[in-house]
Amino acid sequence: MKIVLLAGDGIGPEIVAQAERVLLFLKQQGLKIELEPALLGGCAVDATDEPFPEATRKLAAEADAILLGAVGSPRYDTLPREKRPEQGLLAIRKALNLFANLRPVMLYPELADVSTLKPEVVAGLDILIVRELTGGIYFGQPRGIEYQEGQKVGFNTMHYSEAEIQRIAHIAFQAARKRNGKLCSIDKMNVLECTQLWRDVITEIAQSYPDVELSHMLVDNAAMQLVRDPKQFDVMVTGNMFGDILSDEASMLTGSIGMLPSASLNDQNKGLYEPIHGSAPDIAGKNIANPLAAILSVAMMLRYSFNEEEAALKIERAVQATLRQGYRTEDIYEIGLKKVGTIEMGDRVLANL
Ligand code: NAI
Ligand code: MG
Repeated sequence: MKIVLLAGDGIGPEIVAQAERVLLFLKQQGLKIELEPALLGGCAVDATDEPFPEATRKLAAEADAILLGAVGSPRYDTLPREKRPEQGLLAIRKALNLFANLRPVMLYPELADVSTLKPEVVAGLDILIVRELTGGIYFGQPRGIEYQEGQKVGFNTMHYSEAEIQRIAHIAFQAARKRNGKLCSIDKMNVLECTQLWRDVITEIAQSYPDVELSHMLVDNAAMQLVRDPKQFDVMVTGNMFGDILSDEASMLTGSIGMLPSASLNDQNKGLYEPIHGSAPDIAGKNIANPLAAILSVAMMLRYSFNEEEAALKIERAVQATLRQGYRTEDIYEIGLKKVGTIEMGDRVLANL
């Protein structure tokens, strides 16, 4: 298993270091793993003047899977858009055709009190958000800021083809089939034609999955329902922008964005795995970032790219045991428990592994 490590910026290197220890431990245990570090994002801009350098492109294309920390920093806000760290991330997703973004949103019972929502609203929460990742308004053309009739006008284009919707629909229906057989598709068909097509195509694909119960919801209602009664959802499928926003919203149901991993897959199960949070410049370099989302991303990698379900479960159980023992980074800390830093959290997970 050839794995490229893209530590990135901000807290990226700190949390990826802990995830790497987990991979090295599994290697000691006999899994055939090769790790190769490479540059993406701001660190790549500093070294090569490109957020997604050719050397990284080559390594990523040859790898079986990629582990990413996070990219970005306000330091780069003044650069032209195409040189910014986030462009590196969009470019690698596009280059590897990573169209399917899977974001499990699960509340560990140990963290029921950390959520800002009432425990009875979130207890037992277990949702999977399937977000289309390489299309939609983040990529559509034309886009830009231009002068028109004497004033600046900004515009983007929401664009989805039937084929793009079909392939993400199949991923979502198959995921729903493996879970509780419930899929909710999110759109804004009352206003946006593009998402009318989205709804039509999803409805058509549903005929091949008679065992899955399909429902549709408008995105504004979905945003509301996620905080009103999140447990009504099992699998949710949506486009790039709605998925971005709803999954960040959903992450907070679980207490901290520092807990949630993600997988971005192409049609060969090659994947890029990363925590859903960003580079958190406000806490970078302080050894206080939560490394669990990065560690849980390794579990997803083993599950989806390498079919190592047993190893994936081992990691997830080690994380849960660590929480049960009361170890908490600052973002999930509660009075009376044991506050630890990034590295010590890694120590504890490894000890449990
Ligand atoms: P962010 O996710 O980096 O941080 C939001 C808040 O959550 C901050 O208060 C941060 O301290 C906290 N946080 C995030 N991860 C944490 C962790 N592991 N442990 C404890 N606390 C954590 O989002 P923000 O501040 O909007 O963006 C910062 C930078 O990250 C920007 O440059 C942005 O473009 C970039 N970004 C990169 C992403 C990626 O690489 N996939 C995703 C989102 C943002
Ligand atoms: Mg986001």
